[in-house]
Amino acid sequence: MGKLGLGLAVGCAVASCAIAAVMVGRRVRSRRRWWRVVRAVDEFEEAALTPVGRLKQVVDAMAVEMHAGLASEGGSKLKMLLTFVDSLPDGSESGIYYALHVGGTYFRILRIQLGGQKSILGHDVERKPIPQHLMTRTSEEFFDFIALSLKEFVERTGNNSQYSQVRGKGLGFTFSFPVKQTSLSSGTLIKWTKGFSIDDMVEKDVVECLQRALSRRGLDINVAALVNDSVGTLAVGHFYDKDTVAAVVIGTGTNACYLERADAVIKCQGLLTTSGGMVINMEWGNFWSSHLPRTSYDIDLDADSHNSNDQGFEKMISGLYLGDIVRRVICKMSLVSDIFGPFSSKLATQFALSTPLMAAMHEDDTPDLSEVAKILEETLDIHDVPLKARKLVVKVCDVVTRRAARLAAAGIVGILKKIGRDGTGGITSGRVKGVKSGKMRRTVVAIEGGLYTSYTVFREYLNEAVAEILGEEIAPYVILKEMEDGSGIGAALLAASNSARSVDTVQVL
Ligand code: BGC
Repeated sequence: MGKLGLGLAVGCAVASCAIAAVMVGRRVRSRRRWWRVVRAVDEFEEAALTPVGRLKQVVDAMAVEMHAGLASEGGSKLKMLLTFVDSLPDGSESGIYYALHVGGTYFRILRIQLGGQKSILGHDVERKPIPQHLMTRTSEEFFDFIALSLKEFVERTGNNSQYSQVRGKGLGFTFSFPVKQTSLSSGTLIKWTKGFSIDDMVEKDVVECLQRALSRRGLDINVAALVNDSVGTLAVGHFYDKDTVAAVVIGTGTNACYLERADAVIKCQGLLTTSGGMVINMEWGNFWSSHLPRTSYDIDLDADSHNSNDQGFEKMISGLYLGDIVRRVICKMSLVSDIFGPFSSKLATQFALSTPLMAAMHEDDTPDLSEVAKILEETLDIHDVPLKARKLVVKVCDVVTRRAARLAAAGIVGILKKIGRDGTGGITSGRVKGVKSGKMRRTVVAIEGGLYTSYTVFREYLNEAVAEILGEEIAPYVILKEMEDGSGIGAALLAASNSARSVDTVQVL
């Protein structure tokens, strides 16, 4: 080989080495970036862990806070509101009743025909989305929309004779926000949640506002029962099964209520009820405990919300927020690497990923996760995501859903603990007892809301966690029953049982 040949050979070797070095360098950098993404997801998973030991701490904290909320006004972040429902429907109710349900993304109108003997002979429901702009305007515009919708519904579904049956009678009104009730059919709004903020409504009597709108539309119907959706769910649960003692809603927002002894409501000393009991609306969405596994994403979500430092439990559990937590984690993944390509501005948009879409990604069972790819593309403007990254997105959905379901499960067991239905000795004076005692009774918890009724993985995680916390000896006594449309039907049932009464069964002396 001449000098020239040698030079060429050396040159080629140097060039190949350089190319190889560049390629190796690229691969190393890309692998590093991938590991940064994996680490971000692992850190999130670690921070969101809910081992059973931690869940039991949440159970105890819930029971203690319930006690504190009943002991004094403002004694806890749990408001533990009186509902003036002292007895629950027993199946004997009869007649035609209408109910309205305002509270989430949708507004529902119902007409039910009760036939006594636990029978519902007819049941019409209309679901309408609440126009976004009405959620933040004036109470008059909001209630006018509701009254008009009810009027159209009554005209459409009832004939004249049925309309006259309802005239002057009882309407059940499910209003799914924190309300300080002054009787079964009156109460003032404490604050808005779930993205509603009609400022002139706060501290106003909700029933008066509705009643005025109904008369403006010429509707002669009296609101006989103002109920929270959790209370409606409890009512319908009890209508079918008298062992139902508590109810939980896990939809756009979350809440729970349960049947308490009137004498346990220490903050209301003069409370007398014929039954000796009272349903308490816990407003558990506002529950807080240092045992909750809070991550940096939850902190950011709260800071960006219009009600920061409020509804902390709700922000980890309910449908309004879960999709947004996932979006925030994907955003972080996108910032630490280029696996999602150039940064998409949609990723930085609050609530760009809704919980139903998040659930659809989570439940994608196609081998190549094509649904995940489609949603990332169409909703978040992220294209050509490799399969391994799509798998990570599914994992993030799983972490968020699992934590939410398990925390809700701990909340449920907390209620059971408070009323002595968890197989331990319950709590006395705010201190948790740890000894098993007494004989367990069959205990039913009614559950409503899309996350539980329509999101299979969420439901399975929740059921599994309740059984895990209670242990195999106690779990068989606790039955979680799904209630579709329970809150609306329950309000109609309470309107029916209240319309049938001639005397007040609740007195606050
Ligand atoms: C409200 C509750 C309601 C729950 C479920 C929460 O945001 O404060 O009153 O029961 O959502 O709809």
